[in-house]
Amino acid sequence: MSDIYDVVIIGGGPGGYNCAIRCGQLGLKVLCVEKRASKKLGGTCLNVGCIPSKALLHASELYEEASTSFADIGIDVTPKLNLPKMLESKAKAVEGLTAGIEFLFKKNKVDHVFGFGKITGAGTVDVEGKAYSAKHIVIATGSEVAKLPGVEIDEKQIVSSTGALDLDKVPGKLLVIGAGVIGLELGSVWRRLGAEVTVVEYLDHILPGMDGEVQKQAARIFKKQKVKFELGRKVTGVTKSKSGLKVATEASAGGKGKEIDADVVLVCIGRRPYTQGLGLDAVNVKMDKRGFIETDHFKTSAKNIWAIGDCTHGPMLAHKAEDEGTAVAELIAGKAGHVNYDVIPGVVYTKPEIASVGKTEEQLKEEGIPYKKGKFPFQANSRARCNHETDGFVKILAHAETDEILGAHMIGVNVGDLIAEVCLAMEFKAASEDIARTCHAHPTITEAVRQAAMDVEGWAMQM
Ligand code: FAD
Ligand code: NAI
Repeated sequence: MSDIYDVVIIGGGPGGYNCAIRCGQLGLKVLCVEKRASKKLGGTCLNVGCIPSKALLHASELYEEASTSFADIGIDVTPKLNLPKMLESKAKAVEGLTAGIEFLFKKNKVDHVFGFGKITGAGTVDVEGKAYSAKHIVIATGSEVAKLPGVEIDEKQIVSSTGALDLDKVPGKLLVIGAGVIGLELGSVWRRLGAEVTVVEYLDHILPGMDGEVQKQAARIFKKQKVKFELGRKVTGVTKSKSGLKVATEASAGGKGKEIDADVVLVCIGRRPYTQGLGLDAVNVKMDKRGFIETDHFKTSAKNIWAIGDCTHGPMLAHKAEDEGTAVAELIAGKAGHVNYDVIPGVVYTKPEIASVGKTEEQLKEEGIPYKKGKFPFQANSRARCNHETDGFVKILAHAETDEILGAHMIGVNVGDLIAEVCLAMEFKAASEDIARTCHAHPTITEAVRQAAMDVEGWAMQM
């Protein structure tokens, strides 16, 4: 019977679609269920996350460069913003990639169906009244925007990241709530296109969880780019008036209030797991207090039900969801599926980019792990200097006794790509000396990684 599957996956995002493709490759009969009204695969990442945000970051970066730095290298142009065209080009990127997943599904013999998936009993998933039987069910339902009490999102004037990817005009004043990844990426997009951007952040620093030196350097650079930060403050409400929005703020610890005017408010204070209407109680899948599905090596508390990606613990990142999807497919097929949570890179795609993997200095100190540190500024990298992109540094942390690389933290040009070298090194349990003694092409930005690795033993030669 065609409706009996080895694996039914609920959710067609990076967790779900990669799990489905790997299941297909391993010869498992697999169905992926996706509820998105647009009938597009790819989840948050492809439809309203990673891909559209990176398309706008790229376009807005070029616009700003053409407006401000082309003249310095001898190119005189006066660029004119065509926002509808920019949004259209973003939509095309999304369209191409979501269609690409349908192609990959066909290629790997993965079935898919559009509709809301609900687990109705052990090994049964109902999709809009039709029952599918499965030996294994994988929950890959992702996450949704965390709401802020007193701030009603209408996706026009008060927007989440989804609305902020589709504003039909550049706001005069954009107020961003939350100096995390979305706030800085989408704040950068609209600032480059002409908005005056103010970021209100609850904590006294930006980018929580990142390495302290990176946080400080990033804050300095964003301030230089004319982003205003209101740190240690919280938003208590937003009211609409004819002239725009009035945003009420006060110190995080409470105290005197301050009102800030805005044309558009972007709420980005985190995301929460999405498991609504899935029927988890009926099959006894346990969740923690915050709604994340609890797992042990991807297994939930219910037999043959697995959970991956944003709806479970760990960083809410597409590549983490992807790796978990792959591991679960391999485990179901009887192979040794595994994810190394010590080596999951995180990248913020601002200009300059920010990238990180492994332990921060703060974590190493807290855990009492002895470490050595190597640091190299882009100011001393020849390629960065030719390109006039000298902001930032590469920092490598290695164990004081064994020299094993424990973490790397970078801010600077293209560091989102540079971090891959350190990830690979860490997977091989490499020492910092392994990177220091690896020949790197000259003149490239990658030489900054090598020099930082040399600096761990104090022999960086180019600074
Ligand atoms: P999702 O991608 O959320 O997919 C889950 C899917 O399940 C959704 O399509 C949903 O419609 C579907 N679903 C839910 N319930 C049901 C149901 N009952 N039945 C059927 N279908 C259902 N991460 C990065 O690594 N890099 C980035 O650059 C990046 N940029 C981002 C930018 C933005 C603006 C946002 C919001 C997020 C970004 N992320 C980024 C995070 C990334 O999008 C997520 O970590 C990733 O999408 C999680 O994948 P997932 O498969 O767990 O869930
Ligand atoms: P985030 O967790 O990165 O940042 C939220 C920020 O809001 C934090 O700094 C927090 O202190 C602050 N905050 C919380 N409550 C507040 C309040 N009441 N007032 C003011 N500030 C408040 O979450 P964000 O930016 O919404 O992103 C959600 C998720 O999406 C992240 O987990 C991230 O991993 C993922 N993402 C990843 C990207 C990437 O990899 N490049 C890009 C965009 C999103």
